[in-house]
Amino acid sequence: MSKRENFGTKIGAVLAAAGSAVGLGNIWRFPIETGKNGGAAFILVYIACIILLGLPLMMSEFLIGRNTQANTARAYQKLAPGTSWKWVGRLGVFTAFFIMSYYGVIAGWTIEYAVLAIGNQFAGKTPAEFAQVFTDFSSSTWLPLLWMVVFVLMTHFVIVKGVTKGIERWSKVLMPMLFIIIMILVGCSVTLPNASEGVSFLLKPEWSKVDGSVVLSAMGQAFFSLSLGMGCLCTYASYFDKNTSLGKTAVQVCVIDTIIALMAGFIIFPSAFSVGIRPEESGPALLFITLPNVFQQAFAGAPWIAYIFSVMFYLLVIVAALTSTISLHEVVTSYMAEEFHMPRKKAAAWETGGIIFFGIFCSLSFGVLSGITVGGENIFGIFDWVAAKICLPVGGMFISLFAGWYLDKKLFRDEITNYGESRAPYVKILIFILRYVAPVAILAILLNEIGVLSLLN
Ligand code: PFF
Repeated sequence: MSKRENFGTKIGAVLAAAGSAVGLGNIWRFPIETGKNGGAAFILVYIACIILLGLPLMMSEFLIGRNTQANTARAYQKLAPGTSWKWVGRLGVFTAFFIMSYYGVIAGWTIEYAVLAIGNQFAGKTPAEFAQVFTDFSSSTWLPLLWMVVFVLMTHFVIVKGVTKGIERWSKVLMPMLFIIIMILVGCSVTLPNASEGVSFLLKPEWSKVDGSVVLSAMGQAFFSLSLGMGCLCTYASYFDKNTSLGKTAVQVCVIDTIIALMAGFIIFPSAFSVGIRPEESGPALLFITLPNVFQQAFAGAPWIAYIFSVMFYLLVIVAALTSTISLHEVVTSYMAEEFHMPRKKAAAWETGGIIFFGIFCSLSFGVLSGITVGGENIFGIFDWVAAKICLPVGGMFISLFAGWYLDKKLFRDEITNYGESRAPYVKILIFILRYVAPVAILAILLNEIGVLSLLN
């Protein structure tokens, strides 16, 4: 087998992992969850979840990947030969494939919205017209399919370029670009008239609103947003070199991901409040109906600002989604290339073909296939439910059990300290969290997601 590539630079490794974490989860899902769960208090609970749960789990995925220098399925096989732990890795590959199949559909929609924005198609539309545009587009057959295929092919193009020339080079360009665009948008948003109401919604916690379900939502969001629980960060860490500090990198990725989610909140809430839109009413349509409407209303007196604001925003979402789909694709591509001894290009082509195949059903489930439902969910909803609500928590729970209970403690310490190069006084706490706190917390999320906990109320 040819020599495995590594990320050429430390900053490349951090940006690639941060690129995986930052995506539709930050820009679309985080504001929705924050809106539904009461604003500032939710954010504080979310940050606590990142520190307590996200960080230890991320370090575990990093150390498993970096130690084994293999795809996620092989990693568990190497560390626990002859045991069933390999299924944790395989579950990750399955989950990545599954997520990619429906994530690509929404990512494709963002291209349509960028195109509409560039063509100045939002100008002068009423809220009802925005809703109609969205419904007409998402339920049509060909255009959403086309954009899904385009998005998956864009991902494919980066993947076949390989680790350093593809993932690392693109992450180095795309991540800073994202940061710059998002900062400009925050600046525009918080200076709108009446934006201060939105700002205080994000900064003044109302503790009375925090209950068990808010805590569980915050944990679930932390999980999805950090790309945890499916071997994605384990795969990326297999390209880290031996000098990369796993603890530092995990902290940096968590900080970047959280800052971008918060900034997305600071774009969306001040501008929504400014035009009288209540956050808890925005729901899943936020990104495609509420926001274009917000841009139009907020900058009604200066249409060219509305134009620039809209174009930049949708380009930003495309960038964020692309760096995430790249990481999802890489989990499966590296698995297929290494386990089935295929050239990378061929493995990537199989994966791309598979995603497009399943993506077609997910895309059409908003239109001609909308009649196919299970428990009220269309095909897209079923994919999302299985992947994000079942596979991710199950994967995360087993990863924490693996790292906390099974893994040799010396290996654990050696990886975290880079074989004694640096100090890591927090290793004992880390192991305690992985053994007891994380598995119990994740089990609670899982039971909540599948509705078991609600039966107890
Ligand atoms: N973290 C990505 C987001 O916030 O959009 C989504 C994601 C990517 C989830 C990769 C899981 C994953 F492995």
